[in-house]
Amino acid sequence: MTEKDFIPKSYPAQVEQGEVTWQSPSNIALVKYWGKLENQIPANPSISFTLDSCRTTTTLKFKKKQQRADNFHFDLSFEGEKKESFRPKIQKFLERIDPYLPFLRDYDLSIETSNSFPHSSGIASSASGMSALALCLMSLEKQLNPEMNEEYFTRKSSFLARLGSGSACRSIEGDLVVWGMHNNIYRSSDLYGVPFRDEVHDNFKNYRDTILLVDKGEKQVSSTVGHDLMNDHPYAEQRFRQAHDNLDKLKKIFRSGDLDEFIKVVESEALTLHAMMMTSQPYFILMKPNTLAIINKVFKFREETGLHLCFTLDAGANVHLLFPEKEEEKTLQFIENELKQYCQNGQYITDRVGSGAKKLA
Ligand code: PMV
Repeated sequence: MTEKDFIPKSYPAQVEQGEVTWQSPSNIALVKYWGKLENQIPANPSISFTLDSCRTTTTLKFKKKQQRADNFHFDLSFEGEKKESFRPKIQKFLERIDPYLPFLRDYDLSIETSNSFPHSSGIASSASGMSALALCLMSLEKQLNPEMNEEYFTRKSSFLARLGSGSACRSIEGDLVVWGMHNNIYRSSDLYGVPFRDEVHDNFKNYRDTILLVDKGEKQVSSTVGHDLMNDHPYAEQRFRQAHDNLDKLKKIFRSGDLDEFIKVVESEALTLHAMMMTSQPYFILMKPNTLAIINKVFKFREETGLHLCFTLDAGANVHLLFPEKEEEKTLQFIENELKQYCQNGQYITDRVGSGAKKLA
């Protein structure tokens, strides 16, 4: 499919007003997306586990205007309160998706959104937030075009979510999603996420992700700035090639169930992401002393127990701890007894792999 396939020709139905609600999860990348070209095209393919309990719920209310206007009209509230600071991001999102949803300026929109995870926990809410909003807008488009099939609905939701925040396109479906062209991944695309359809060993079913909240402050580097650091980065080409190779490796690992090899790829991806930031101009160190303390404890725990706990990081100091369902009891005990002390206010979130977004109303 190309971008043009997402431009609608005409709408057979009329819709005066209504409301829809979607709940969409966050996701955690195993091979990281870091670096992009124009129009949110990723510089390399990525793969993520879709999460389950870290979610955004969004209700979209829409009412047809008397007359189509030049501007978008929308109200925004977050957790029950008007949120002016989110407006520029949503405005930009609506501008970007306007060619693909030409009805947007025909409606007064009201967007009510809330997160299941603690406010300003340093957890990126853009993936769950942008995917939930994209799905709501697609539900309106489906009312205007009731013939739309499910596959197109899902693809286009992911396509639109990507224009809001790249990684958001991996939050529509579960449980493993690939985004970005890769020679050995069936139907992979730079335009939207696709579910990973190859064989996946039972070891990876219901995988756990416990998120340690090390630093709940504002992000030190926004993702826009972060991705830009990869332009003219001395190691960029090598890094993009490595992401392709790591996806090939993971494909084999998912089939064989080899947890030791899984750990090697996933931890190396996390450290490479941070290495890219440490070796760019300007350079950034996003880990905190507690991030490193946790990583060292994870190494030690693995050595002592032979269990398969591993870490990954996004562009920040918080640590995602990934482990198999079978090892949950001992691992959670270890987190509670030995890692909680490194979290701000002792806070962490226990999550697991989930099946994607859900329509609530
Ligand atoms: O979706 P963005 O533009 O916020 O980028 C997120 C990038 C990482 O979270 C660091 C990695 C990834 O693939 O999710």
